[in-house]
Amino acid sequence: MSSIAINQARKVYSGNVTALHGIDLAVEPGELMVLVGPSGCGKSTLLRMIAGLETITSGTIAIDGRVVNTVEPAARDIAMVFQNYALYPHMSVRGNLEYGLKNRGVGKQDRQALVAEAARILELEPYLERRPAALSGGQRQRVAMGRAIVRKPRAFLFDEPLSNLDAKLRGQMRVEIRRLQKTLDTTAIYVTHDQLEAMTLADRLVVMNAGNIEQVGTPTELYERPRTTFVARFIGSPGMNLLEAAALAAHGVDLPHIVPQAGCTIGIRPEDIVLGDDPRPAISLAGRIEAVEILGKESLVYVAVDGVDELVTVRAAGGRWYAGATEKLILPLANLHLFNSGTGQRLESKSSPASL
Ligand SMILES: Nc1ncnc2c1ncn2[C@@H]1O[C@H](COP(=O)(O)OP(=O)(O)O)[C@@H](O)[C@H]1O
Ligand SMILES: [Mg+2]
Repeated sequence: MSSIAINQARKVYSGNVTALHGIDLAVEPGELMVLVGPSGCGKSTLLRMIAGLETITSGTIAIDGRVVNTVEPAARDIAMVFQNYALYPHMSVRGNLEYGLKNRGVGKQDRQALVAEAARILELEPYLERRPAALSGGQRQRVAMGRAIVRKPRAFLFDEPLSNLDAKLRGQMRVEIRRLQKTLDTTAIYVTHDQLEAMTLADRLVVMNAGNIEQVGTPTELYERPRTTFVARFIGSPGMNLLEAAALAAHGVDLPHIVPQAGCTIGIRPEDIVLGDDPRPAISLAGRIEAVEILGKESLVYVAVDGVDELVTVRAAGGRWYAGATEKLILPLANLHLFNSGTGQRLESKSSPASL
């Protein structure tokens, strides 16, 4: 098991594009760390710098305490799994699994043993003599992972490996990758733009935004205490509602004293709003239902509220909600998240409820 330590890593591409602004990150041995963020935020750049496929403009990257900035990719002893599996089409599964080992001069007996072990772990034994064309997408993905496993690398790096698969298979492969990573006990960094994938896979996750890290934490920590409005919106599905306190007050909404009325953004998750009545201390709003999406047991209800630019999203039980109806929205104080409207940073306040 290996550690990866990133210190003030910056990347400026030619043409003066700054992709990373100075990243600090410590990945613990055996950890599955997920980098998540919108397209273009620098996830692939960071991963490729760790793999050695991209130069580091300044700062350091260390693997097991050794700075690898100028170490060749092959000598870093790290395996990368890509979205397009990059399998050799003219070789069997066995050939694909063995290829890298052969290149490295691993003897025949050792090769066979390593391939057999990987095939067993990945349940690829029945397919060893097939060509990639005769495999399903999920099986090909497993072969791609098998090629990484047989090398017994210090770490696995995954760059959106499941993007080409359909939703159901993606869900299955997610579970499989996590199980595999824990079985092999190998440090891994996994890149995705999909917050659900990030939440379900990660030991810890790193939310990135425009070349910076917004927050690092466990899925629960990020869900319960997002440090910025960006993380609040990005983590959770649908993301957190954000309402300006001053605009609500201007529309006659009664705000409790824990909510500063100037420069404060109130955050509340769709699953934390109650439609109708609730006895808890709360902010009470009224709004008109604009749209309803029935999910089955629950519905997503989109409500227009005076003083709020975007529709407020509510995850409500049942399907008895109708567009056009006026409803009461209860925002329990214990569920509020408060942010500085200017900086987007979470407000910490001694007098606020525990969840703030
Ligand atoms: N080879 C390159 N040359 C110039 N700019 C690049 C190159 N690769 C990526 N970029 C830019 O760097 C930023 C980060 O890209 P990338 O790391 O691919 O983001 P992500 O993987 O999060 O989508 C983007 O603005 C992208 O356009
Ligand atoms: Mg990318």
